[in-house]
Amino acid sequence: MLRNILKIKSTFSKNQLSNIDYAFEIQRLRKEKNAVILAHVYQSADIQDLADFVGDSLDLSRKAANTNADTIVFCGVKFMAEVAKILSPSKEVLLPDLDAGCTLEQSCQPEEFKKFRNKYKNHLAITYINCSAEIKALSDIVVTSSNAKIIIDKIPKKQPIIFAPDKHLGSYLNKLTNRNMLLWDGTCIVHIQFSERELIGLKAQYPKALFAAHPECPESILKHADHVGSTSSLIKFISKSKNKEFIIGTEPNVIHQMRKNEPGKLFIEVPGADGNCSCNRCPYMALNTMEKIYLALKKSQPLIHLNANLISAAEKPLKRMLEMSGN
Ligand code: 13P
Ligand code: SF4
Repeated sequence: MLRNILKIKSTFSKNQLSNIDYAFEIQRLRKEKNAVILAHVYQSADIQDLADFVGDSLDLSRKAANTNADTIVFCGVKFMAEVAKILSPSKEVLLPDLDAGCTLEQSCQPEEFKKFRNKYKNHLAITYINCSAEIKALSDIVVTSSNAKIIIDKIPKKQPIIFAPDKHLGSYLNKLTNRNMLLWDGTCIVHIQFSERELIGLKAQYPKALFAAHPECPESILKHADHVGSTSSLIKFISKSKNKEFIIGTEPNVIHQMRKNEPGKLFIEVPGADGNCSCNRCPYMALNTMEKIYLALKKSQPLIHLNANLISAAEKPLKRMLEMSGN
């Protein structure tokens, strides 16, 4: 994968690349190729501002399924671009950096997951969208943090469920839906970094601030939250609230949308464990840059390739998700 990117880069000298007005060139190429640029809210502010659409995993899946564009440039991580390819297989789907992975996806490998499923044959397999196309193909229903509760609540209470790969989201959902789903042991490298000690310090420093957190955080963090939800739910919560100060327990690039909607409000990031590291930023999302988006559009690569059998198997649980969550 990396070799592909290096190959593209090697056709441009460093000087040539540094003289390029990326925003201008991306606009031009986007029109020329009838491309749509979709960006997750964890992308840097310049990428969010450039995109045709910015949203959470569910919003982006819906957009990818319904676009008229010929090319989708997915500014997010690989599992998200794969969802776009699965839902729009005839389109060219570009991911500016193919190394943009996810620790949740990596934690759940198909062979292990097959064994887990075989061990609990009477269980329904519900998987968080943060997993590979192969894991989706082995699942019954996919969910995102936006629609997981709605979907799980539609399943009869006596039906046993296995939930993968995020154990913290799974455990939060178990409480919310009063279930006892069996959980895969996966975590998000960003959300497990948040320090409870730093959070308590921030709450003391900003006593009027409300704390809004993503359910990928562990219980030790979520127990302090005034609101828990997907990134889009956090953004809505902040706009609806009359409060002026918020502590944000998720990847801090999301604050860009919050600030755009509510310029008069104050947003405080929860730092990572040692208080100074930048480990509250997703290192995979950060791999996408303006330069790589430009190169992807210019060269039509790196492309997402999935074979037809995999697409058809992974499409079923994704379509079930869209139907069950009202789309
Ligand atoms: P949502 O944007 O769907 O809340 O998901 C967050 C996430 O984990 C992206 O990696
Ligand atoms: Fe994966 Fe966590 Fe990054 Fe989201 S923030 S892409 S869950 S590693």
